[in-house]
Amino acid sequence: MCGIVGYVGARRAAPLLLDALKRLEYRGYDSAGIATVFKKLHVKKDKGRIHEIDRKLKLADLPGNVGIAHTRWATHGKPSRANAHPHLDSSGKVAVVHNGIIENYLELRQFLRKHGHRFVSETDTEVIPNLISYFMHQGKNLERSIRETTKRLKGSYAMAIACVEEPDKIIVVRKESPLILGIGNGEAFLASDIPAVLSHTKRILVLENGEMAVLTPAKISIKRIASGAVVKRKPMVVTWTAEMAEKMGYPHFTLKEIFQQPDAVRDTLRAATGELEKLVKLLLKAERIYIIACGTSYHAALVCKYALAKLADMSVEAVISSEFQESCRVDGKTVILAITQSGETADTLKAVQVAKAGGAKVACLTNAVGSSITRESNIVCHIYAGPEVSVVATKTFAAQVAYLLLLAIHLARERSLPKSKADELIKRLGGISDAMRAVLTGVEPQVKKLARRYCSAEHIYLIGRGIGYPLVMEGALKLKEITYIHSEAMPAGELKHGTLALIDQGTPVIAVVPPGESRVRMAGNVEEAKARGATVIAVAEEGDDMKGHVDEFIPIPPTEELFSPLLYIIPLQLLAYHITVELGQDPDRPRSLAKSVTVE
Ligand code: AGP
Repeated sequence: MCGIVGYVGARRAAPLLLDALKRLEYRGYDSAGIATVFKKLHVKKDKGRIHEIDRKLKLADLPGNVGIAHTRWATHGKPSRANAHPHLDSSGKVAVVHNGIIENYLELRQFLRKHGHRFVSETDTEVIPNLISYFMHQGKNLERSIRETTKRLKGSYAMAIACVEEPDKIIVVRKESPLILGIGNGEAFLASDIPAVLSHTKRILVLENGEMAVLTPAKISIKRIASGAVVKRKPMVVTWTAEMAEKMGYPHFTLKEIFQQPDAVRDTLRAATGELEKLVKLLLKAERIYIIACGTSYHAALVCKYALAKLADMSVEAVISSEFQESCRVDGKTVILAITQSGETADTLKAVQVAKAGGAKVACLTNAVGSSITRESNIVCHIYAGPEVSVVATKTFAAQVAYLLLLAIHLARERSLPKSKADELIKRLGGISDAMRAVLTGVEPQVKKLARRYCSAEHIYLIGRGIGYPLVMEGALKLKEITYIHSEAMPAGELKHGTLALIDQGTPVIAVVPPGESRVRMAGNVEEAKARGATVIAVAEEGDDMKGHVDEFIPIPPTEELFSPLLYIIPLQLLAYHITVELGQDPDRPRSLAKSVTVE
């Protein structure tokens, strides 16, 4: 996730863009840059936080009344000056800022190289200005060249383009990544999010998928990219404060990030290519595999362990990082897969160092390009969840799980799963984001009611089996972190071995019952709890006859057992969030916790 902004009007662009970038920094902050048009393109950019770059380069000094800018959260290529946006074509006439992922950039690069274009960065974005200038060299104007370019791009993008040959305008294009336009008096703005422009205008146009817009000081004209048909749209008048806008109208970052999960999953699955293949090869050669992680990342590791056993017939160990050196042995044939969204968790870094000292090879899965874990790893894999502000991990969990499920399918295909079956699973996994969206909106009203009912509980127990067990562990962790209610997750079959003694009249028990062969046994465990007087809330497939046997039933649309974590975790996250709000606590700032735990 990155942030883009742009300005055309009578004022100097650079100071406005700098201010807007600072307001978008929550979308990414590893590098930033501005390009303005004044007789030629003027560019200042570097790696680092915006205030550091500004101190060094004096970003606001750039001349001109037209400009585009970008704050980056690295995806393709490490944070560096060369990889920072704006990117220019090789002739230095077209500048682009881009938020999204171009999937076919390697083949486009090859094509453009053959036509004399040179590349100076490792990014996917750099093909865009070059492709535009390729079409402009054929005599097409900027708008036409951009339309031709978008026909050849696969992936997602919100981008803004400035060009010296048509210096009084900015053109923007949108496919999937967000983009809004701001209408001023004799000036126009663009941005990834509303907060960037709110101090200048409250009149906002939201650009929809498949649309482009030409921004000049006098007007904004929107068109369909494919047909060129003009789109008439009335601006909305935003009454949010800047802080509300940063949360996109959600009251808390936690809720915003819960609702961003479908996008995080979609972007992660799309971007997983070369690095995933390398990881598959490494794991296939290993004699022993440990997946190490802490907290939420550990729960994703457990989902992976389960998926590998079921689908790829592979046995791996998921180990809590801080326990690794106490109990695990490594040698030259051991592979470690370290999962850490921040890439900075001290316990995980320590375990990796111990494993490397023993001769193990290390791969990592992280959300933070260039983080410490990436420097310790032989293979670096990424999720593309964008910066997660809230201390509780939600969208990074979903993105990790999606990546790991994809990994399991690829490994299974290399081992025994027929290719056609694997391809079918990959296709269906690609469609899971839509199902996640349906669950998010479908269950929230019911979960809110449950939150009101259970916010005064002293204890909440959660039970699950198989792939449902890591989910209840994750649900319990969410509840503990922000509601401060004692929450305990149990493998459902283990309840009768002790914890059942704590369950009596009215004790809330949440049973997570994904589809699959363990469903029947889960039904038995639900009865055990009910017989002791528990109030049972079941999260199960819609139409399941368990509905008639429990106190509350949260229906989830049908999905395969393997993909169920991505849907079944949602009501648990929402429940933790809404209970916290009912209790008058701040879910974004839980007591005693830090986002990144950099001490052992
Ligand atoms: C999750 O909600 C927590 N904030 C915490 O358990 C976290 O998952 C853990 O500290 C691991 O962090 P990492 O993924 O950045 O390594």
